[in-house]
Amino acid sequence: MPTEHDRSPRLPDPRPGPDKDARLVRRMFDRVAPRYDLANTVFSLGRDRHWRRAAARVAGAAPGRTVVDVAAGTGALSGELAEAGATVVAVDFSWRMLRVGAGRRSGVGRPGRVDWCAADALRLPLPDAAADAATIAFGLRNLPDAAAGLTEMARVVRPGGRLVVLEFSRPEAAVPRVLFDRVVLSAVPLAARLVTSDPAAYGYLADSIRRWPDPAALAALAAATGWRAVRWRGLTGGVVALHWAERAG
Ligand SMILES: C[S@@+](CC[C@H](N)C(=O)[O-])C[C@H]1O[C@@H](n2cnc3c(N)ncnc32)[C@H](O)[C@@H]1O
Repeated sequence: MPTEHDRSPRLPDPRPGPDKDARLVRRMFDRVAPRYDLANTVFSLGRDRHWRRAAARVAGAAPGRTVVDVAAGTGALSGELAEAGATVVAVDFSWRMLRVGAGRRSGVGRPGRVDWCAADALRLPLPDAAADAATIAFGLRNLPDAAAGLTEMARVVRPGGRLVVLEFSRPEAAVPRVLFDRVVLSAVPLAARLVTSDPAAYGYLADSIRRWPDPAALAALAAATGWRAVRWRGLTGGVVALHWAERAG
């Protein structure tokens, strides 16, 4: 039986759905935590900050607003939301991701603040309608049940409040899509050997992106889970999709 300390730890199932074992997801992020931020910057060629800033803008982050940042990891998006003045509840179930984030992003000099919270995205430790917005960046793909995640975010956001989902996608046009699939995604696990503390996890990353629904299907899922006026746009040639919506009711 493999353990966390094995040389080749088990990886989660890259397909969306119930076969994705949340414990394997958590352990994988515990392993990659120390170099997670660095890998983000390297693999996105520095674009990741731009993606998260765009997400913070559409979330309406501002002084006096409370935003729950689900699957917050090391708080890369939480930090952008706090920079805009919001009070952020950064929720993640990986202790190591939270610990790295809390160490790196202490909140000094920010107009807003980040409260770090260890919890499962499917059982957020917040009362109904407690937040003005819920955000999730590169997290929804890792949940065993994306619909349940979106429903739980709808529970904690007040009517009229915002949902923002930032997630990898694939370019729509045929040629860039083939290049992205065959060149970029195939190169990720190889490049990960140079940068990360767990190269195998980046094989999971590439596979899970290939199997993730397209933006229209994700919009339909949000519309079916308590959100209205769902919109999206592609970033950086469509390799990332930014969805936003309003809490119905
Ligand atoms: C790719 S990281 C994204 C981190 C951060 N949002 C960012 O933009 O860098 C995905 C995060 O989702 C967290 N996660 C996955 N499933 C979760 C769950 N069921 N509950 C809470 N956190 C979860 C992982 O621990 C990990 O930190």
